[in-house]
Amino acid sequence: MPELAARDHLERLPQLLELAFEEAGKDRDDVDLIAVTRGPGLAGCLLVGVGVAEGLGASWSKPITGVNHLWGHIYAAMLTRPDLEPPLLGLVVSGAHSDLVRMPEHGRFEVIGRTRDDAAGEAFDKAARMLGLGYPGGPALDKLARTGDARRQPLPKPSLPGLDYSFSGLKTALLYRLRDLGEAVTAQDKADLAAAFEQSVVESLLEKLDTAMSGRPVSEVVVAGGVAANTLLRRRAAEVVAGRARLTMPPLELCTDNAAMIAAAGYFRNSPPHRVGRPGGGSHSSIEVDPSLGWD
Ligand code: KG4
Ligand code: ZN
Repeated sequence: MPELAARDHLERLPQLLELAFEEAGKDRDDVDLIAVTRGPGLAGCLLVGVGVAEGLGASWSKPITGVNHLWGHIYAAMLTRPDLEPPLLGLVVSGAHSDLVRMPEHGRFEVIGRTRDDAAGEAFDKAARMLGLGYPGGPALDKLARTGDARRQPLPKPSLPGLDYSFSGLKTALLYRLRDLGEAVTAQDKADLAAAFEQSVVESLLEKLDTAMSGRPVSEVVVAGGVAANTLLRRRAAEVVAGRARLTMPPLELCTDNAAMIAAAGYFRNSPPHRVGRPGGGSHSSIEVDPSLGWD
C-alpha cells in the first residue's frame, strides 16, 4: 500500500531521527553529510525521505547527497569491514532484486546477472504465503525450514543458462505440490517443503556466484540484501567461497533495509580519495528521485 507507506515515513521519520541521535549519543554538530536514498523504491517514500533530508540540510547548513539503495546493500559490507575495497563481486538479494554485480572501483557497478522474473526475496515471500506464514515471509520460512528435511519433499532447482536467475517455475512447483497434498498436508510436510524451497533458491543463487567466480577470479566477495539474512544462504555461501576469495556478509541487521547502509554509501562515495563530485552544497540541492533506478 504505497500511500500508507509514504504516510508512515512522514509520521515516523522525525521521531526516528531523534531516537537515532539519542541512541548514538550524537547531535547535529556531529553530522558532516546527510545521505538519502534517491531510488529504487516506492516513489512516495523516496519523496518523503528526500524532502526531509533537504529540509535538514537547509536548516542545519549541511551538504546532502542522493544514494542508490542497491549500492547501499553493498556498502553495508564496508561497515562490517572498513578495510574492504573494490574490486569485488557482489550478490545482492532482496525483495525486489537478485543481482550479480562486479564492482571494479568505488561508485561503479556492472550487472552480470539478474532475475528474469521474481526476485529471491519475493519468491520467499510468495512461498511463505502459500505455506500459510505471515509477511514478510522470508524470516518465517527460514525458521520453519530449520525444522524440515529438504530430501522428503524435493523441489526442482531452477537452471537457466548463463548468470540469470528465474524463480517462478519453482514457485509453481511448490503450488502444485501443495495442491497434490491437499487437505492431507501435515505441519511436517510444510516444514519439509519450506526446507526444499529454501534449498532450491539458495543453491541456484550460489551456482551462479560460483560460475562468476570461476569465470573471472576475484579476491573479495560480498553477499548482501535482506535475503542474505537467510540461515542456509549464509552457511552455504561460506562453503562455496571458502579458499577462493574472502567473503563478507553483513550482520543480519545490516542485511535487511536500514539507514546505516545509506550513510555508508554516502560516506564512501564522498570521502577522499573517492570524492566524485560535490554533494548538495548546503542550502540548496536538487536530488532527483528515481523509483526505477538501476545500478547507475
Ligand atoms: O533488502 P530488503 O530488506 O528490502 C528490499 O530492498 O527489498 O529485503 C527484504 C526481503 C524480503 O523479501 C524478506 O522476506 C527477505 O528479504 N528476507 C529473508 C530473510 N530475511 C529477510 N529471506 C529469507 N530468509 C531470511 N532470513
Ligand atoms: Zn533493500
